Order: sequence, then structure tokens, then C-alpha cells
Amino acid sequence: MQMGSKDLFIKKFSQLPEINTSAHGRVNLIGEHTDYNNGFVLPTLIPQKINVSVRRRNDKKILGFSKDFGFGESVLDSQTDGTWIDFIKGAITLINKEGANLLGIDIAVTSDVPIASGLSSSAALEVSSLKALSSLANLDLDEIKIAKLGQKIEHEFIGTNCGIMDQLVSARAEFGEILFIDCESLNSKHLNFFTNHTFLIFHSGNKRKLSTSEYNSRKNETEIASSLLKVSSLRHANINQINNIKDKIIRKRAKHIISENQRVLKGVKDLEENNAINFGKLMYESHNSMANDYEISSTELNKLVESAKVAGATGARLTGAGFGGCVVVLVPKSKIEIISKSVIKKCPKSFLVTKL
Ligand code: GLA
Repeated sequence: MQMGSKDLFIKKFSQLPEINTSAHGRVNLIGEHTDYNNGFVLPTLIPQKINVSVRRRNDKKILGFSKDFGFGESVLDSQTDGTWIDFIKGAITLINKEGANLLGIDIAVTSDVPIASGLSSSAALEVSSLKALSSLANLDLDEIKIAKLGQKIEHEFIGTNCGIMDQLVSARAEFGEILFIDCESLNSKHLNFFTNHTFLIFHSGNKRKLSTSEYNSRKNETEIASSLLKVSSLRHANINQINNIKDKIIRKRAKHIISENQRVLKGVKDLEENNAINFGKLMYESHNSMANDYEISSTELNKLVESAKVAGATGARLTGAGFGGCVVVLVPKSKIEIISKSVIKKCPKSFLVTKL
């Protein structure tokens, strides 16, 4: 078994941490890139999580140990340096803006969330660190505040102009439920899983590539689309309006977002009615929309989705930002083994991350 963050902390710093916290990774079942368009998403937590153990220091140093991310060292108020310590520096800086007066910290991190794979290891690191620091500073921050601070770390310290989905589901959801989130109001509804079907997550064997620049450029393209359509966000546009967009690329991007929001709303109904067959169809449609209109898929992800379909899966789609990482596959519970074996045989670099 992997060493916990508390044991890692004791081993590396030869003293006890003051606090231990954790946060889960997530898988988004449908509703991709809709969050930064004020739209709808349908994520759920995965069993894998990030654990952090923290102790305050009396100077401004930040010292971090992590088996996955390596050793890191920096100083509060210094420039970001592209290492994972930027997340921690961001968390301390933003918690201090909320009224805390933290200096540096010692931190140990352990994780079984696959990194750069569309399963939100970054949000889990942000949420677990923010929870630890706010508690050490006696700040009572609610889950929306924690999620917004996590998102701010991405915007201001990492350079990804992400939406709110990952941080909000990590901070708000209970393990074992699906959250339907309206990313405009930030209200959410808890939904149950299908009774006779389950979701499997397969890693393509390829980590995400070019994600920050491509991600930010998709966001810009959707902003151009909403300004052309004179709506505050694509959440408020309808599919008939896209013909007013002359630029082919911008039109395709808008088509994905608007149609994806519709699919999430239909998917919510399917979950409420326990209709896995219809939900599966929406997943395949969503994948095609991401591959052809939003252009965030990859050869490996397409092959995984196709192999799952041929093997008899009810639905499959890439999950997360895209450009590599994972697919989520809906299968009848009676076919978990047979479909998994068939997919892995056709895509030998792939592996099963988890079953929900
Ligand atoms: C990343 C971002 C999220 C969301 C997804 C795509 O995970 O952090 O805000 O945009 O991509 O749905």
C-alpha cells in the first residue's frame, strides 16, 4: 500500500503535521467545456484522491515532498516557476487575501489520481490544500468560496483559464453521487447512478498534450461566438442561431457548446428515469461533437471509444479537457469483464483506472 501523506510528512520533516486533508478527483459523465460558458455539467467523484499534510513555518519558505510531483522548494511572494509548488504558493497567497496571515509551510502530498489525464488531479490538489490552509488560519470558507479560490489558482498561478466544474465538484460532492451543476447559478442537484449499468474509466496511455494553450484558445473562440450572437454566454444561445456565424471554426465551437448543454439536460432526465440506453447514445453524440466540432480528441481517444462501442458498450466519450487522458464508458454491469478485456486488447496502451 502507498504511504499516506502523514507518514510521508513525518519521514521527510521529522515532525508531525498540524493538519491532514484530502480531496477526490472527478470524472465528468457529460457536459464538456460547457462550464466556462455558464452551462451544465454532470460530474461525479472517483475513488482516487489527493492527501495533503501541512505544518506552518516561521519563515516564508515553502517545502514540498510528493512521490508523484517530486521535491519542490520556493519562497512565498516569489515568481511562479512552473512546478507543482505554484499551486501551493497560489493557495497560501489567496488564503492570505481572505484574511489569514500565513507565512511558509512544509507540505507532503500523496496521490493516486492519475496526473494530466482529465480526472482533475489539479483541482484535488487545490481543494485539499485550500481546506488545510483555511482550517489552520481558522477561516470558515464555504465550498463555493473554496472552489472559486481553486479556480483562481489556475487563472493566476498556473495560466489555465478554466471553468468552475472541477473545483466545485471536488469541494461539494459526496462520494457515490452524481452532481448536476448549473455553472451560472452554481446550484446543483444530486442524482443516483443507473441500477443495471456502471461507468468504467479507461486511460488512453497518453497524457494530455498542449492542454493549456489549446484550452485557452477554445475559451476565446466561444467568447467570440457569444459576442457575435449578442448573448452573455453560449448558455443563452440556441442551435438555430449558429447559422448567423460566418466563421466556420467559431460556428463549430458554438455548435458543440450549445448541443452539449442540451445533451446534459437530456442526460439528467435519463438518469432520473434510469434510462441508461438513452444516456449512452448521448455519450456517443457528445464524443463525436468533441472530436469533430470542438476538435479536442485524439487518435487514441477515438480508438478507445470505437473499441468500446464494438465491444458492446452502451455509451463512451472522452472526459475532461481532452487532447489525451481518459474516456468514460457506460456498460451493463453484466458485461464489465468482457468489455474491459476487449477494449484493452484493441488498445494495448490503455488501462482501466476505475469502475464506479
Ligand atoms: C478542465 C477544466 C474544467 C472544464 C473541463 C472540460 O477540466 O478545468 O473547468 O472546462 O476541462 O469540461
